[in-house]
Parts: sequence; structure tokens; C-alpha cells
Amino acid sequence: MGHTQHLTITRVWSIPTPGQNEKVHGKHPTQKPIKLLERIIAASTNPLDLILDPFMGSGTTGVASIRNKRRFIGIEINENFYNIANERNLIAYQDQVDSLFI
Ligand SMILES: C[S@@+](CC[C@H](N)C(=O)[O-])C[C@H]1O[C@@H](n2cnc3c(N)ncnc32)[C@H](O)[C@@H]1O
Repeated sequence: MGHTQHLTITRVWSIPTPGQNEKVHGKHPTQKPIKLLERIIAASTNPLDLILDPFMGSGTTGVASIRNKRRFIGIEINENFYNIANERNLIAYQDQVDSLFI
């Protein structure tokens, strides 16, 4: 037999914590990286699916949903976190709309 190449296949996702650019609208103590949510959404949903995050915090699931053309409903009990999420989600929507006209 010829040369055998060994590949290491891992189930560990290595994604850094959110950078300052993901916190410009305010901080949440357990904010997740957008890249992590985008990966979960791509792996488990289809375009136009409706995603519900009943504990949305600063709205990362919403941003990842909108960027990947999923519909999104978020619920958040804390008004400050809700306002951060709302602002981030509105900007994500606006970016999607803008991309249609470039
Ligand atoms: C772990 S954090 C979510 C963080 C989010 N994944 C992010 O990336 O920003 C959970 C959130 O659930 C909210 N929460 C707790 N109890 C709630 C309730 N009964 N209804 C709605 N939101 C609630 C908290 O205020 C907190 O922001």
C-alpha cells in the first residue's frame, strides 16, 4: 500500500470571544460571538426559517439570523439589553436592504 495520510478531525469549534466591534452598541455579560451563532444557524436551519430566541440578551442570534436570511423573534426581559439587541438587529436589517441596491 502507498503512503497513508492521517487527518485529525475534531468536533471542537474554535471561535474567539466577541471583539469590540460587536459591542459598540453596549455590553452584555455573556454576549456570544456572531460567528458562533451563524455557524449554528447554518447547520440547523434553512433560509426563511423562523428562529426564536426567548432569552436574546444583546441580540446576537438576531444579527446572525438576519445576516443569513432567516426570520427572527427575540424576547428579552432587561430593557437595557433589549435596546442593545434592537439597535443591532435594526442595523443588520438595514445592511441587508442596502446590499440589495449596491
Ligand atoms: C445568557 S443571556 C443571552 C445572551 C445572548 N445569547 C447574547 O449573545 O447576547 C440570557 C438573557 O436572558 C434574559 N432573561 C432572563 N430571564 C428572562 C425572561 N424570563 N424572559 C426574557 N428574558 C429573560 C437575561 O436578561 C439575559 O440577557
